[in-house]
Amino acid sequence: MSNSQYNKKSLLTVFLPDESAMIDLGAQLAAQAQPGTIIYLDGDLGAGKTTLVRGFLRACGHRGAVKSPTFTVVEPYALDYNKFYDYNQLQVDLKQNDRIDPLTISKTDKSDVNSKSRDGNKSLQKVYHFDLYRLEDPEELEYLGIRDYLDGQAIALIEWPAKGEGVLPKADVLIKITHQKQGRGVELRAESELGKAIVSRLALSL
Ligand SMILES: Nc1ncnc2c1ncn2[C@@H]1O[C@H](COP(=O)(O)OP(=O)(O)OP(=O)(O)O)[C@@H](O)[C@H]1O
Ligand SMILES: [Mg+2]
Repeated sequence: MSNSQYNKKSLLTVFLPDESAMIDLGAQLAAQAQPGTIIYLDGDLGAGKTTLVRGFLRACGHRGAVKSPTFTVVEPYALDYNKFYDYNQLQVDLKQNDRIDPLTISKTDKSDVNSKSRDGNKSLQKVYHFDLYRLEDPEELEYLGIRDYLDGQAIALIEWPAKGEGVLPKADVLIKITHQKQGRGVELRAESELGKAIVSRLALSL
């Protein structure tokens, strides 16, 4: 994605001409995400928020469908922790190589890169995909038990975050997607130190 721009204020902007570019951005974001990362996804109906989440989840090993949790509010995913973070490591290792499709990488056998095994007790990385579009009051998130979901380790990708204002934890990365002709313009803004690390590394990988 050569048409990206990154500035000192931790704002990364990129134009994505089609759906596959959005999937790819989701995958690149997954490669930089850390336990506990909170990502807000802003954008009109049909902007491409769920598409980005799909790219994120597929890149870290999820093989099933990614449904939009419009009616259920939240869809939980438990991803293989080692697969998830070995994928991250692989991205770092491969950073010098240009244009390797991350979706292809995630399907390859990475056993040789797995030698740096992480904490054996943590075998799952929880990822929660929220869609708050139908939320009538942010308080509803309390009843859903959002505090139990977001325990500081789980990663959250949240569509329509404004509907949960006041109850949602603050974002590390705020993503705004807008329609631009046939494609989409995407702004990624860091909102925390963790967010800065993620966005600056993402800027290098695009
Ligand atoms: N960069 C892109 N360029 C063109 N089309 C795209 C791009 N990214 C996604 N799309 C398309 O936009 C459509 C809507 O995507 P998606 O369902 O992800 O939107 P959404 O923001 O989640 O909408 P909602 O608010 O209704 O949940 C899909 O058909 C998808 O293929
Ligand atoms: Mg959606």
